[in-house]
Amino acid sequence: MKNILCIGAGYVGGPTMAVIADRCADCKVTVVDINADRIAAWNSDELPIYEPGLDEVVKRCRNVNLFYSTDISKAIREADIIFVSVNTPTKTFGAGAGRAANLQFLEKTARSIVEYAENDKIVVEKSTLPVRTAQAMSRILHSNTKNLKFQIISNPEFLAEGTAIRDLENPDRVLIGGMETPEGQKAIEEVASIYAHWVPRERIITTNLWSSELTKLVSNALLAQRVSSVNSISALCEKTEANIDEVAGAAGRDSRIGSKFLKASIGFGGSCFKKDILNLVYLCGHYGLPEIAEYWEQVVKINDFQSRRFVGNMLGAMFNTFADKKIAIFGFAFKADTGDTRESPACAVCLQLLEEHARLSIHDPKALGNAKLDLEGVEGDISYIEDPYKAAEGAHAIAVMTDWDSFKTLDYQKIFDSMEKPAFLFDGRNCLDHEALYKIGFNVYPIGKKHLTHF
Ligand code: UDX
Ligand code: ADP
Repeated sequence: MKNILCIGAGYVGGPTMAVIADRCADCKVTVVDINADRIAAWNSDELPIYEPGLDEVVKRCRNVNLFYSTDISKAIREADIIFVSVNTPTKTFGAGAGRAANLQFLEKTARSIVEYAENDKIVVEKSTLPVRTAQAMSRILHSNTKNLKFQIISNPEFLAEGTAIRDLENPDRVLIGGMETPEGQKAIEEVASIYAHWVPRERIITTNLWSSELTKLVSNALLAQRVSSVNSISALCEKTEANIDEVAGAAGRDSRIGSKFLKASIGFGGSCFKKDILNLVYLCGHYGLPEIAEYWEQVVKINDFQSRRFVGNMLGAMFNTFADKKIAIFGFAFKADTGDTRESPACAVCLQLLEEHARLSIHDPKALGNAKLDLEGVEGDISYIEDPYKAAEGAHAIAVMTDWDSFKTLDYQKIFDSMEKPAFLFDGRNCLDHEALYKIGFNVYPIGKKHLTHF
């Protein structure tokens, strides 16, 4: 039986390993983490992350061929293949602060592998990393005095939160990069044989290490670029009475452009997009390509601009003052179907509203716990409300920040009746029925579309 280990039980490692265990009955999969609370949660009925379909997969495999543990040294000793899925946040200090990836967790992991390994192993990079990290990883691993050999493989994860299980079970592609040596090719084949349990061979792409590392950054940069492109045009739509959904819909019908990922919003969030683009920007600067760095940095700048523009529109509509006005925030997660709030544009919007002395009542079906942590220590009047009707009661405005399905079926007549008048609704996701809301009496402000007001 093949022994697979994953170091790091987060949003990537957790779901990925659950699906590998589910699809590979002939493998024993162990997931370890330095965070004992997280491991305890993976072993309980209350998993540490919310992801549709994840509970069922974990229940099927846990303690059969899927194990969660804090005993890192034992797990490393026993493993044949080690996936490294620790966090690689943006550096907040020193050289490259605010752009480069902080690789301290990755380096610590490599050092643990060196310390505890007793035989040769394949080490797989799963976390998003700057190009050529595998070189540093290899140098640390081969500093061992036990004469052990390690093959480094890059196998970036493309799952999106909220659809992680579906993406893992039916991926567009699996990318595996390795050294162009016979040993490297053999290691690629070993990792490919895991995925081949359920992924058709033609969807398993193999490349050299550096192409694989760079592809992860480029895929996220291209996706984020689409969102920033459509968001930049949403601003122009608001000035010209064009409608962003019509423009994006019609442009996307060209099969060369494609219809996906063209939904205007208050901006993209999530742990990957901003981090990966800044990483790309840093790399371009490092390799003496300032023009290319500047080109990609603009994608992040437009994203920041979009949330500031949204708050500016709110302020203008609400007579240039939020002071002491209650504003209901519908959604804090960075997208629907996740409790994750990392880099959520909702957070940026809330901070700007608080600066203007608004009173916030935040509602989210899954992310209130993370919202509390994100806004801990922030000054201002903030309440966290489980019930959307209570959150909106007595409010001057509702700001929709996340495209949760549950927001579409609320009784907006009841909500309108309980609000201060004039009642405003700012739809930062263009996910509600604006005409119907207008008929109820709301003054409705979508993104990239005509405002529907009673003034
Ligand atoms: C992303 C990539 O999609 C995935 O392949 C990679 O592995 C990790 O990063 P994720 O961050 O989970 O996944 O979510 P994604 O669905 O890509 O959405 C990112 C952000 O863009 C969200 O805030 C979403 O609301 C926003 N978005 C997406 C838009 O505003 N408009 C769109 O059309 C699509
Ligand atoms: P991602 O979204 O990339 O999965 P997360 O932050 O959700 O990132 O998960 C990364 C996990 O890696 C965290 O649970 C963290 O505790 C764990 N981790 C970080 N460093 C180590 C380490 N040296 N050994 C084991 N686990 C680690």
